[in-house]
Amino acid sequence: MCGIVGYVGGQQAAPLLLEGLGRLEHRGYDSAGVAVLGPGKESRLRVAKKAGRVRDLVDQVPKRFAGKVGIGHTRWATHGPANDANAHPHVDTKGDVAVVHNGIIDNAAALRAGLAEAGVELLSDTDTEVLAHLIGLSEADTLEGKVAEALGRVEGTYGLAVLHAAYPDRIVVARNGSPLIIGIGDHEMFVASDLAALVRYTTRVAHLDDGELATLTADGFSTYRLDLTSVTRSAIDLEIDADAYDAGEHDSFMHKEMLEQPESAERMLRGRLDERFGTSHLGGLHMDARELRAIRRVKVLGCGSAYYVGQMGAGLIEELARIPADAEAASEFRYRNPIVEPDTLYVAVSQSGETIDTLLAVQEIRRKGGKVVGLVNVVGSAIARECDGGIYLHAGPEVAVASTKALTNMFLGFALLALQLGRVRDLSIADGRRLVSGLQRLPEQIGEVLAQEPALAELAGRLAGAESLFFVGRVRGYPVAREGAQKFKEISYRHAEAYQTSELKHGPLALIDDSVPTVAVVPEDELTERNVAALHEVAARRGPLVVVTHPAVELGDLPSQASVDRIDVPRNERELDPILMTVALQLLSYHAALALGHDIDKPRNLAKSVTVE
Ligand code: F6R
Repeated sequence: MCGIVGYVGGQQAAPLLLEGLGRLEHRGYDSAGVAVLGPGKESRLRVAKKAGRVRDLVDQVPKRFAGKVGIGHTRWATHGPANDANAHPHVDTKGDVAVVHNGIIDNAAALRAGLAEAGVELLSDTDTEVLAHLIGLSEADTLEGKVAEALGRVEGTYGLAVLHAAYPDRIVVARNGSPLIIGIGDHEMFVASDLAALVRYTTRVAHLDDGELATLTADGFSTYRLDLTSVTRSAIDLEIDADAYDAGEHDSFMHKEMLEQPESAERMLRGRLDERFGTSHLGGLHMDARELRAIRRVKVLGCGSAYYVGQMGAGLIEELARIPADAEAASEFRYRNPIVEPDTLYVAVSQSGETIDTLLAVQEIRRKGGKVVGLVNVVGSAIARECDGGIYLHAGPEVAVASTKALTNMFLGFALLALQLGRVRDLSIADGRRLVSGLQRLPEQIGEVLAQEPALAELAGRLAGAESLFFVGRVRGYPVAREGAQKFKEISYRHAEAYQTSELKHGPLALIDDSVPTVAVVPEDELTERNVAALHEVAARRGPLVVVTHPAVELGDLPSQASVDRIDVPRNERELDPILMTVALQLLSYHAALALGHDIDKPRNLAKSVTVE
């Protein structure tokens, strides 16, 4: 979704802003813009903005665009179409104020009407322009006061950065529900909505809480609440390798990130497995054995792929700990007035930690007195900070829109949690040790799946021709099929639908013919025979089959004319097998999208983190 960058310091701002915007491209956007405050006392605001890609903006920025203070933005259209006028920054009538904004101003229509009535000419269809005018019209005698006054009239969510020609030494930023990170350099300060735009310059950062403002000058930052009382936000040093934000020799971040999985899975498990007692160490949960035992139900909340892996996780928890557990789309949760129970453990799962639907679900639970732990990748993100405790995913930065390595580590996080919940209940030490040893084998086995890339690429090339596909699985395999279909559709733009294999004959079988392939998840487990029987039903209707399975599984005598491809993945413990099958399906989707010539890291209409409802 929209991205923000800002700079104040000793260097020319424009090149830094444009570079930063380039690094936010993965968030998804349809227009971009920058504003700088020119040098000298009579500081003048210069703005360049354009619909299209950041490179189009680069071509449009004039050579003389000097200024050591500036802000930039990539916009994802919400209010009004993607065109030059609606691109950010937005300026007030006098041309003194420039604003970039992520989020949505809910009462924009009323505020626009009020401004129009007062004679203000609005030049765009956006909610953000309202903020520029409100700040421009404010009579407060400081920029912080003007911004706070304007925000006092606004309902909604924002991550905001503001320049004002009368205050040429500063950027004022504010946050309410949209991510914003302050980057601290040497006599220079940065701000961005995503670490990706900062890490080339600094890994020393400070976070704002919702309802807070900050002033950035070359020499530092100060933070306030909306009533301008000061609040202390200390800086932290992040351990991040800036190279993680380069695709290196890979054609895409998705490819790079898939191949990093053995290593990132290893990192996730490091120091968390207890071979002796067959359990896990999860200090970040902040829960002792007694509290863990008191949990009577587990509810997992996430969106998209995080929701599907949450469904795998709920299955693991129910199976290992015998606690009723289910997963729900966080985007639906708070709208059905959910019953929040004190003995339920709520688990919020999110790579970015900024997905607004998941964040709002967490806030709703906490408002009702529920306990929430987070499975989050981005350290210090909004969801991580909002939760009572959690398990960080240690996947490293994930840039590709399609989540791969973070998703795998989410699964591992659930396995660790299920193991611990199980071991304070009835999971035997022998079973605990069996799973610990299974987890230890997983990183290497993920590598074995990835080594099948050439064969999967060939198969994917053939699958890419299909307009429509089914992905099917049962029980542990069903969320694998859901995630497989999700990945396939989001980057190949093919219609991929997931079903429980058992449901095929209750309807979808009507669609099967030789043009509709079925990708079937068939692990070697207690349901193999039933799964194989369903494959025969598909083959009898000339449906091409791709079977993700284990080497020992026999598919029986399928009709001789049937088109059947197998992907054999290594076996682990039956509870942990789903993730190895998921990795195989990632490669399948990736290569189908590649064969179709799509831009893998920038799937159409999608953004890396969805920060508006
Ligand atoms: C799919 C994908 C999305 C995200 C979803 C949640 O590959 O990446 O479906 O999983 O938008 O995002 P996070 O995990 O950041 O909350």
